Amino acid sequence: MAPAGCKILDIKDLTVEVEGKEIITDLNLCIERGEVHVLFGPNGCGKTTLLMTILGFPAYKVKKGRILFKDVDITDLPTNERVKQGMGMSFQHPPEIRGVKLGDMVNIAMGRKEGKIDERVVELGKMLNIPVEFLNRDVNLGFSGGEVKRSEILQLLAQTPDFLMFDEPDSGVDVENIELIGDLMNELLGREKIPSKRERSGLIITHSGFIMRYIKPDRAHVMLNGRIACSGIPDEVARHIIEEGFERCVKVCGEKVCAE
Ligand SMILES: Nc1ncnc2c1ncn2[C@@H]1O[C@H](COP(=O)(O)OP(=O)(O)OP(=O)(O)O)[C@@H](O)[C@H]1O
Ligand SMILES: [Mg+2]
Repeated sequence: MAPAGCKILDIKDLTVEVEGKEIITDLNLCIERGEVHVLFGPNGCGKTTLLMTILGFPAYKVKKGRILFKDVDITDLPTNERVKQGMGMSFQHPPEIRGVKLGDMVNIAMGRKEGKIDERVVELGKMLNIPVEFLNRDVNLGFSGGEVKRSEILQLLAQTPDFLMFDEPDSGVDVENIELIGDLMNELLGREKIPSKRERSGLIITHSGFIMRYIKPDRAHVMLNGRIACSGIPDEVARHIIEEGFERCVKVCGEKVCAE
């Protein structure tokens, strides 16, 4: 295990192409062990692309720069190796998987064999308001938008990685279920512990910032045109975005309102 206080994620000068088009340009991002960061940005600025690149999906081609995870360069590692090293993600648009039951998927995420649904899986489902019959349904097939989000969080809970990425966990989720998801994210990320005792880290993409009512991140970033355009105190950054929009927030951060 890496020594306490080391960077869990260190992205240096990252440039990424998708389908021959440059989406991320010279991006730098550093997340310390135990920290949770939140990422804002307009539609299409490259937020999901960043997460998919961190997880190593082959369609996302790193043209320049490096990604270090727990001080190890993982830029060329396949996705399954990154997951083994302790990364996990809840997707914005996860696929429907015909023929694979949610219960089996969760069992696999927990490192258990397919077959009978484990009691612990049923318990986790209850915590997320996912009835046991859902565990017998094909992954995401016919799930409502909110059910898809909770199914994603369930799989992540089961996997319990050290570094968790959440792509819009609050989009399309009703108020009560956001609270449920937020509380579980808090628990999973150990936010109830004092900062020096927190071992898991996270990166959360949100548009509305609703999730920040339940989980208090350490730092916020605004992404514009494939770059981190400004960073600052999460509540301050969110307030500026709501009041003045993304572009103005960048300027205000530049004028130190968001500086620590
Ligand atoms: N596989 C792909 N093929 C072609 N273009 C892609 C692909 N994936 C992403 N893009 C393009 O990259 C840009 C960034 O997309 P991305 O999904 O990262 O945006 P985002 O910031 O997550 O937006 P949103 O807030 O709408 O989720 C978009 O213009 C998108 O169309
Ligand atoms: Mg996205």
